[in-house]
Amino acid sequence: MSTAKKEIKKVTTQTFQKMKQNGEKIAMLTGYDFSMAKILDAAKIDAILVGDSASNVIAGHETTLPITLDQMIYHASSVVRAVDRALVVVDLPFGSYQANSTEALRSAIKIMKESGAHAVKLEGGKEVEDSIKRILTAGIPVMGHLGLTPQSIYKFGTYTVRAKEEMEAQKLIEDAKLLEKLGCFGIVLEKIPAHLAKQVSESVSIPTIGIGAGPHCDGQILVLHDLLGITKEFHPRFLRRYLSLFDTIKDAISSYIDDVKSVDFPNEKEQY
Ligand code: KIV
Repeated sequence: MSTAKKEIKKVTTQTFQKMKQNGEKIAMLTGYDFSMAKILDAAKIDAILVGDSASNVIAGHETTLPITLDQMIYHASSVVRAVDRALVVVDLPFGSYQANSTEALRSAIKIMKESGAHAVKLEGGKEVEDSIKRILTAGIPVMGHLGLTPQSIYKFGTYTVRAKEEMEAQKLIEDAKLLEKLGCFGIVLEKIPAHLAKQVSESVSIPTIGIGAGPHCDGQILVLHDLLGITKEFHPRFLRRYLSLFDTIKDAISSYIDDVKSVDFPNEKEQY
């Protein structure tokens, strides 16, 4: 009997490219910790985004702005330790790349070195061109993020659909083409009209990953805690919930509390 371990075919940024060329949709989810990342990888998710949405779903902040570079590294390194197959992309958090391209490069290098992740993501188009160029020059793969960019929430004022007006839609198309030209390996399109996401996806050769951007993107991403129903109060139209884990977990914990109070737990078999 052979004891050789079956070699796992890792997903890379080149795989992303091939999937787009072959018309194979890319399935991405966010992940922030070791245990969940193990499950995501076992299920054969193509890529895990260690999103700065950790600021909301893990830390309980109202926005993504407070999360720090070191906190992102903590989450990303936990995910990386769990993963054998999936591509791991990490968000550069607010304030770690906007000041200038030198700081952006320093942040990207720190994240890659200390977390072991495979790529970084950052929000914006033309306004972060120099930072993207600089990071790419260091050999770090970059994913762009256009449309609703939550790090700019105080500029937009709301989390509603972006680029409904012609001028904003035109800028988004130009930004997508710029990100492709600079050498990004993919672009997240968040909360934009489906027809615009289709147009963008057809105009660039790199994959687009949609969240609230319709079916024509080359892949889809959701926040894991939303898909699992761990978060309850968030009901955007684009979200499909596959479980109601908040209630399932709450019920399990209530049963445990009852068992402890009634001295049903631990029983004879559950002791030494
Ligand atoms: O931080 C995040 O979870 C994201 C996704 C919504 C794309 O950026």
